[in-house]
Amino acid sequence: MTAWVIGNWKLNPTSLLEVKTLAQQLVQNVYQAKLDDVQLMVAPSFVHLSAVQSELSHQEDTEPAILLASQDVSAMSADIGAYTGEVSANQLVDMDVDWVIVGHSERRQYFDEDNDLLLQKIRNAQAKELGVIFCIGESEADYQAEITEKVLAEQLQVIYSVFEQTSSDIKLIIAYEPVWAIGTGRVPSTSDVDSVHKFIRQQLANMDAKLQDVPIIYGGSVKPDNAKAFSSLPSVNGVLVGGAALDADSFLAIAQSFVE
Ligand code: 13P
Repeated sequence: MTAWVIGNWKLNPTSLLEVKTLAQQLVQNVYQAKLDDVQLMVAPSFVHLSAVQSELSHQEDTEPAILLASQDVSAMSADIGAYTGEVSANQLVDMDVDWVIVGHSERRQYFDEDNDLLLQKIRNAQAKELGVIFCIGESEADYQAEITEKVLAEQLQVIYSVFEQTSSDIKLIIAYEPVWAIGTGRVPSTSDVDSVHKFIRQQLANMDAKLQDVPIIYGGSVKPDNAKAFSSLPSVNGVLVGGAALDADSFLAIAQSFVE
């Protein structure tokens, strides 16, 4: 199975020059890294999508080693409309974006994004055939209260709703990111990650047969020195990387951990 190594650049870096340099370093070094069966993807902020797309267009192969994702998509419209500040799925497709991140905990936390809104975002992405990286994860309080599975099941209701209302195919990746592990340097034990991923796999299997091969990736303080612990678990089909994705060498080193 292909492993997915995805860099979420969040609100980084500061300048266009830094963005271009990072993208160039990735494009220059990705083939040397011989990342067989590893699919890389980067998600810059909206303003940098065009510059990164331009750098990624210099990739040698027709099968791109690095795909482009956005960090969000409008729930309001999949096309055009009077929605100040929004970016639609159609506009993203026009920029050669392949995937969108939906439901990141930072958006749930700071922008109060709930299941209804996330469902609309997924529908809009799906209407334009964008892939969806759907993020789920429990807070520190949920973890302490040992209600992780309950929380994840509630968050996965969105995916259930998508399939309840459509029979069409959807390109989907589930990213399990415990909120308490994001940017903290703390990571769950491998046995915890393994059992949560198996739980998510079971939930998906119960929803729809089409979901049985959906990749389930882990995110939260993934670094070059701990990536192997995750890649060695068959239940982990890749990683979603924040801070360590802002350095080409460390991002590629993480990807290297997923080469079999
Ligand atoms: P860090 O790798 O910086 O912990 O961020 C993880 C994340 O939120 C990726 O979406």
